[in-house]
Amino acid sequence: MKHYLVTGGAGFIGANYVKYILKKHSDIQLVILDDLTYAGNLGTIRDNLKDPRVEFVKGNIVDPQIVKSIFEKHPIDFTVNFAAESHVDRSIENPQLFLQTNILGTQNLLDTAKKFWAVGTDEKGYPVYREGVKYLQVSTDEVYGSLGETGYFTEKTPLDPRSPYSASKTGADLIVVAYSETYKMPVNITRCSNNYGPYHFPEKLIPLIIKNILEGKKLPVYGDGSNVRDWLYVEDHCKAVDLVLLQGRTGEVYNIGGHNEMKNIDIVKLTIATVRKLMEENPEYRKALKPASLSVTDLNRINNDLITFVKDRLGHDHRYAIDPAKITGELGWYPETKFADGIVKTIRWYLENQDWVEEVTSGDYQKYYEQMYGNR
Ligand code: NAD
Ligand code: DAU
Repeated sequence: MKHYLVTGGAGFIGANYVKYILKKHSDIQLVILDDLTYAGNLGTIRDNLKDPRVEFVKGNIVDPQIVKSIFEKHPIDFTVNFAAESHVDRSIENPQLFLQTNILGTQNLLDTAKKFWAVGTDEKGYPVYREGVKYLQVSTDEVYGSLGETGYFTEKTPLDPRSPYSASKTGADLIVVAYSETYKMPVNITRCSNNYGPYHFPEKLIPLIIKNILEGKKLPVYGDGSNVRDWLYVEDHCKAVDLVLLQGRTGEVYNIGGHNEMKNIDIVKLTIATVRKLMEENPEYRKALKPASLSVTDLNRINNDLITFVKDRLGHDHRYAIDPAKITGELGWYPETKFADGIVKTIRWYLENQDWVEEVTSGDYQKYYEQMYGNR
């Protein structure tokens, strides 16, 4: 039986991971630590919280007392750190919060794990750890910076972050490496490309576009829409994290990505076309329109005229693209969901789960939207 500490488990990828591992492994115990920021929502994991294998703790990963109390109460074997401030645009507005959560939070998790996992020291003075423990840092391809028209990020690509978000994630990665080198802590770092799928908070491109289409609002595309992202279905990311945690070589970094590069403008056009097609095929989906409607004529408003090119993001990285050869070669990982299927699955999910969207955007979302897009 393995005891997991999963941080950020009420957010987009963390929640999908919690669902994935609870289904995949029967003999596990989970503590989810999440501070329930604007991006964390208990509704996302409501059903999982009924599972006797799961305990939820509301708290900040930066707080030493909270993390210590979890390790005192549970014999944690694995710490998987998803908790982070994750949105680039917000990092441009408030860098300090990103440094606090992403760097200091990571260091606090590592430090607490080190204290509880060390069982002695070797002849050189390095800590020796309890058998089978591991810390996994969920990182991002953004630590490698921005690519031109060609080339891929490998694990050997130099770190070259550009935004406060990616700089904070890089700082966190370097602290993980420092604990691995200086204290010989058993760690892995995973660096994944852009995820999409269910429970994605509608500040990020794909869910924001879906939400705006349903509300008949303009679809803001930064700059000229030619920036490229490498999209991966969230469950394929979760599967990769599970593999690296259980089978990855200790101390190694693994890049995760599915060779699925798309220009932003193409993503937006595809999303418009898919929403319209699904609603043409199934009138029930038209109930997701605001106001809800079953009328076929209301579908005429769903077209590319909704697109509006707005002021570019400051320091906007041009292109990301992952070379996943290492994780594929060593661990046999591959992306199971093709983008053409994943995007339809995702849009269907949003059309069928408008209650969730309303729940997570009922707080400060409107204020955020006006601040972020009002002057663009
Ligand atoms: P998210 O913003 O949807 O969720 C983050 C979660 O962390 C939320 O539940 C939030 O409440 C929690 N959290 C934030 N600050 C906290 C704190 N101080 N203490 C405890 N909990 C806190 O993020 P996501 O998109 O699910 O990303 C998860 C991780 O994956 C992040 O580390 C991110 O950098 C990384 N990542 C994301 C992507 C992507 O495409 N979304 C791709 C690669 C890597
Ligand atoms: O690459 C992995 C990263 O992907 C993760 O580390 C981050 O946590 C995650 O947020 C994501 O970062 P991006 O900045 O790539 O994702 P976002 O959805 O914010 O933007 C995707 C692209 O779309 C980017 O080029 C900016 C653009 N964009 C975004 C928004 C929100 C728009 O054109 N309009 C928008 O309204």
